[in-house]
Amino acid sequence: MSEVQRPAGTVASVMTEERMFPPPAEFSARARIGSLEDYRRLYDAAKNDPEGFWGERAAALPWTTPYTKVLDWHPPAAKWFVGGRLNASAACLDRHLAAGKGEKTALVWVGEPTGERREYTYRQLHAEVCRVAAGLRKLGIKPGEVVSIYMPMTPELVIAMLACARIGAVHSVIFGGFSSEAIADRNQDAGAVAVITADGGWRRGSSLPLKKNVDIAVEKSPTVRHVVVLKRTGQAVEMVAGRDIWWHDLIEGMPTDTAPEPMDSEAPLFILYTSGSTGKPKGIKHTTAGYVLWAQTTSEWVFDLRDDDLFWCTADCGWITGHSYVTYGPLAAGASLLIYEGAPNAPHEGRFWEIIEAEKPTIFYTAPTAIRSFMKWGMEHIEGRDLSSLRLLGTVGEGINPEAWIWYHEVIGGKRCPIVDTWWQTETGGIMMSPLPGCTPTKPGSCTLPLPGVVPEIVDAAGAPVTPGHGGWLVMTQPWPGMLRGIWGDDERFVETYWSKVPGKYLAGDNARQDKDGYYWIMGRIDDVLNVAGHRLSTIEIESALVSHPSVAEAAAVGRPHDVKGEAVAVFVTLRGGVPTDGLKDALRKHVRQQIGALAAPDDIHFAATLPKTRSGKIMRRLLRDIAAGRETVGDTTTLEDYTVLATLRGNDE
Ligand code: PRX
Repeated sequence: MSEVQRPAGTVASVMTEERMFPPPAEFSARARIGSLEDYRRLYDAAKNDPEGFWGERAAALPWTTPYTKVLDWHPPAAKWFVGGRLNASAACLDRHLAAGKGEKTALVWVGEPTGERREYTYRQLHAEVCRVAAGLRKLGIKPGEVVSIYMPMTPELVIAMLACARIGAVHSVIFGGFSSEAIADRNQDAGAVAVITADGGWRRGSSLPLKKNVDIAVEKSPTVRHVVVLKRTGQAVEMVAGRDIWWHDLIEGMPTDTAPEPMDSEAPLFILYTSGSTGKPKGIKHTTAGYVLWAQTTSEWVFDLRDDDLFWCTADCGWITGHSYVTYGPLAAGASLLIYEGAPNAPHEGRFWEIIEAEKPTIFYTAPTAIRSFMKWGMEHIEGRDLSSLRLLGTVGEGINPEAWIWYHEVIGGKRCPIVDTWWQTETGGIMMSPLPGCTPTKPGSCTLPLPGVVPEIVDAAGAPVTPGHGGWLVMTQPWPGMLRGIWGDDERFVETYWSKVPGKYLAGDNARQDKDGYYWIMGRIDDVLNVAGHRLSTIEIESALVSHPSVAEAAAVGRPHDVKGEAVAVFVTLRGGVPTDGLKDALRKHVRQQIGALAAPDDIHFAATLPKTRSGKIMRRLLRDIAAGRETVGDTTTLEDYTVLATLRGNDE
């Protein structure tokens, strides 16, 4: 059936993957959830009695005021643990000290420059968080105020997040690869009162000008009163008197036992900006109790965390994975974390395996795009490395192609480690669908089954469940504790984006199908969101950046398949006049980098005389996607192409 004839909201599926990998018996024997019967029991309990189920699990959180009701659900508004008070940093730190685990390793950090390494026990991490929290309080930062964090992956990034949480400030972490424009937009949208940054950050041996980017951004951020600067690279920076303060001066003489602010269960814990279907990134809002419980519980289930594990999640805290599976989940679970500051190919392409050999993590959680890079870089970087400490592997951020899955299983996992392919989103706060490593037989490319508490459905555009085996929109039919509570400052967009197309259900924005065993297969986005190297980008954001360049009249951005990044950015540009030159391509790439960040810089730029449009003026993206993927020959794309010809050939009614 062609895409045009199919009922709206449904998708044809062509992928069939029949291989199945049962969990190793010795893994199951020691696992938290060791059989499918146990999983089903938990699943049914959470589905049938969510309040009883989550109430039982919330009992271990360090409440300062007990809650009166587990769930108050008026779709789309959910309140979890109504009336309770607690502090997220106390849930990650203080409760472990109280339980006598103060001397346990909380965090092992490896810097990008070879030889740099630090270790923190829970007691030491607690002390550092307390000092920064006291410093921020002294600056006058109040509960509920927003603090932007723009830092390299150092322990101080985790400390800054927890210090904000400790005083009840709402953190908004901005990935260190974003531009000053992107920082300014986020500061303005959130009304940030302070920015925590560093002089610079190491990236493949060179240093990123973080403070400089913040300086430019803060000129356009009228609400920002303070900038705290960590000395990381030692590069020269300008400090603005009365506004800027060094991190080491901020914490000088500060107490190591700052009291945590008791926060309402539903008080915002953080905002994290992510791309959607418009040019403006949305600030996804997560709140305190439900989020922390979800991050902790899913960490324990999916990564089967044990006391002697060392958990390495390679994500940067600029993304949701770094929030939930570097900072809040593992620390709330009292686990030991491994963090690496830099790129996997710095200073050589075997850096990750060198780190595994030296630090002996037991769990390794990374992105498919990284796995495809490792495959490309070759076996010479891996052969001879001792990876035997690993017992469990995970992936996140995009679907994993079966070839990469098998490679990961055989080469990195030595055929003994289960792989958890975890499907979730910034909005969901934590993992939603994933194998449980001790009990779920895995199929390469499938995120398998929903976790307890997650009740998915696949529907067509009318909201009716699709016939089993067919693709459709993935929705969630029940609330879960880690769900987003809104878009910062834009309730209307929250309702419109997630809750209006299929009323009363959460629309994830992905297509999916279920196979005969009930396993879920994610089939890509239903909106104009690209997934480039596991990072979410909006085509419209890229287009707005391009048209803000003086030479550009009109632009269309689409994704095309890329063997390492999953998707690459291809753009079609019409000019205001003049002839395109190679110099212009470089200028446009630089312009997008300045507007959004390096991750959005187009891989391919096609200049066109006009863009193919429907009679109603909508750009024919499907046609452009075909052209970008090389499915249409259009000759030399460096000269102006007239794509209307193709549109005419195709018939222009999309
Ligand atoms: O399309 C899905 C894809 O990434 C989107 C969420 O992106 P983001 O909010 O940036 O969060 C990424 C980290 C959780 C989803 O809507 N995605 C994420 N994980 C998977 C995936 N697609 C297929 N399989 C996955 N395991």
